[in-house]
Amino acid sequence: MEERNIGFFFPLSKLDLSSRPQLFDFHGVGMIPIFTANWENVQNFQARPDDIVIATYPKAGTTWVSQILDLLYFGKTSPERLTSLPIYERVPFLEMTIPNLVSGKDQADKLPTTPRLIKTHFPVQFVPKSFWEQNCRMIYVARNAKDNMVSYYHFDLMNNAQPVAGDWNSYFQRFMEGDMVFGPWYDHVNGWWKKKQTHSNIHYMFYEDMIEDTGREIEKLCSFIGLSPSAEEKEMIKTGVQFDNMKKNKMTNYSTLPVMDFQVSPFMRKGKVGDWKNYFTVAQNEEFDEDYKRKMKDPTLHFRCEL
Ligand code: A3P
Repeated sequence: MEERNIGFFFPLSKLDLSSRPQLFDFHGVGMIPIFTANWENVQNFQARPDDIVIATYPKAGTTWVSQILDLLYFGKTSPERLTSLPIYERVPFLEMTIPNLVSGKDQADKLPTTPRLIKTHFPVQFVPKSFWEQNCRMIYVARNAKDNMVSYYHFDLMNNAQPVAGDWNSYFQRFMEGDMVFGPWYDHVNGWWKKKQTHSNIHYMFYEDMIEDTGREIEKLCSFIGLSPSAEEKEMIKTGVQFDNMKKNKMTNYSTLPVMDFQVSPFMRKGKVGDWKNYFTVAQNEEFDEDYKRKMKDPTLHFRCEL
């Protein structure tokens, strides 16, 4: 069979897709080996002051904001990047490591762009210290827990590099218990929110706000990073990052990554606020809301589960 390359150093034949990984406790956070194997190197990552970190809990809109930022920075100067390189090469996933095969840290080291856009799903306490020392700008995207859970469920069903998803009812319980890759959603969104209070270089965004008014959120992002694109450019970016356009675009829809089984579910699945209503039973919703109140005590951090 002809060797298919996914990315510049990602030969398919070397990827072990035969078994799903097991979640294990890593410094108090659920992890799988591909995100911890390069821990020392990742922790010693040398940031540059102009690096831009894109941080999210998985399935909160990482790809969306990554594409927006890539377009804002490089859409005019190197448009060929956007049409020839998949998003996971343009925006390396810092902690992703398959030993002897691919390391997000090495990819980030070798990025030729200025600034470098670097993705992480780390809870805030895992972020390599160099990013803080260099006072890098960080963009955090958060999504309401219910939609985040539904999206993560479908992702775990279709991504063979993730632990087994199991059935919906067991997934629902596990999400509330926080037994997820990258730990509990609750700790993640709260940890970054708290950090933002003392670190002015964190821009905290909400997926729901992006759905409600993408243009407005792009404006806010531009003021945070200090860019002033023309009205025409902004309009082009807004159109380019619409869900349907990103779903069609091979460079953003992850269809080039065979570890994902699109027969089970596409990566660009629905892109909606409120899809949780199609999955949560009435009883589950009540149980979830009760548990949520106990865990989410900070009145300043507010999520919208519908628009
Ligand atoms: P759904 O599974 O609910 O559709 P991440 O990039 O962090 O993995 O997040 C993926 C989620 O963001 C998926 O949610 C995906 O469809 C959604 N998404 C990606 N691009 C989007 C866009 N341009 N507009 C709206 N939602 C988008």
